[in-house]
Amino acid sequence: MNTNTKTAGPTIRPYVIPTSVDATDAGDFLAMVDVRNRIYREISGADDEFMTASELLPNFWADEYTKRHFLIVELDGVVVGRVGVDLPLEGDSHVAFWSIELIEDVWGQGIGTAAYDVVEQIACDAGRTSLQSWAEHPASDAPRLEPPTGFGYVPKDHIARFYLRHGYSLEQVERKSLFDLQGDLSAVDRIGREARVAASAYEVVQWMLPTPAEFVAGYCLMKERMVTDAPSADMEFDEESWDEARLRKMESRILDGERTQLVTAARHRVTGELCAFNELNIPLDHTLTTHQNDTLVLSDHRGHRLGALVKSAGILRLREIAPDSPRIITWNAEENRPMLSINEELGFYPAAHIGAWKKVVA
Ligand SMILES: CC(C)(COP(=O)(O)OP(=O)(O)OC[C@H]1O[C@@H](n2cnc3c(N)ncnc32)[C@H](O)[C@@H]1OP(=O)(O)O)[C@@H](O)C(=O)NCCC(=O)NCCS
Repeated sequence: MNTNTKTAGPTIRPYVIPTSVDATDAGDFLAMVDVRNRIYREISGADDEFMTASELLPNFWADEYTKRHFLIVELDGVVVGRVGVDLPLEGDSHVAFWSIELIEDVWGQGIGTAAYDVVEQIACDAGRTSLQSWAEHPASDAPRLEPPTGFGYVPKDHIARFYLRHGYSLEQVERKSLFDLQGDLSAVDRIGREARVAASAYEVVQWMLPTPAEFVAGYCLMKERMVTDAPSADMEFDEESWDEARLRKMESRILDGERTQLVTAARHRVTGELCAFNELNIPLDHTLTTHQNDTLVLSDHRGHRLGALVKSAGILRLREIAPDSPRIITWNAEENRPMLSINEELGFYPAAHIGAWKKVVA
């Protein structure tokens, strides 16, 4: 037997989160970022989710809202994947969110299973009983697997089989969508005009982070409601409590990460209340894809085209701020028909199926 070609098992170990990407101990982090970008390109066939190490780094810094575990997976001394486990610190949270991402070359050798044992150990040691995870399932001819919501499906591919083998069930399907920012925006303009008529009791207000003082309370309220008001099927989320300190921390993560964010909100003219919002997260390198993060219309204010109002105003302003950004990427629950209808009308098109998977452990 030629021992030179013998492959040892994988090493799955925590790594240092550096204070800067130039720090002497940043090597593992930089290798993790390269592997992350490679895996996302392999799965999606595109670089819409590419992020630089500088953009990602602030998202890895500790805070008081989530206990986070980060590990890398090495094979023969080479980084081939990464693992993350998030343990929210809200009240007596019993949920854990995790991901395992490996380069395609090493799939099917039991490495994912070895990493999953570590994930489940971390979650169980922390007393978490509801383990949840999301994955993009590339289009394939595999048979379809449908969630109990009855909306959408994922192919029963290698990734789905991995979850099923480890006791997970598919709870929800999200749609990843893209919008071509270099195309004709006349439909967006028209939808915006129609929405302004239907929503005449509301006005559009927009700001770039950091949020001006007058909008802080309203923005915090809407961020809290994002968890409770967006459709989440049987996925479990803790209620969140947002105050100015938490909002400023979120803003620092974005701004320190060499990105910025346009927030477009609808304000009720009579009460001054913020009732709907849309976030467009923009890289400083304007040739990269913009990410649409949260969009929500507070439940009391639905039915006035406020979703179309804030989304159309956001896209039109984005084109002025970052005219070279090629696309917007966004994710929505397949059962969220009102939101998907607005997106489709604006010109978003489906790009991938995202499975939301859950396992309840004793
Ligand atoms: C999903 C993912 C983590 C699975 O990792 P993996 O290392 O391929 O998984 P495993 O090898 O442990 O198990 C997969 C298959 O290999 C088989 N296998 C396990 N050990 C094996 C071994 N020693 N030799 C050959 N095959 C083996 C398993 O039986 C399983 O077979 P199945 O597909 O018929 O069920 C990996 O495909 C990946 O990173 N995908 C992209 C990111 C992603 O979707 N992550 C999902 C969680 S966020």
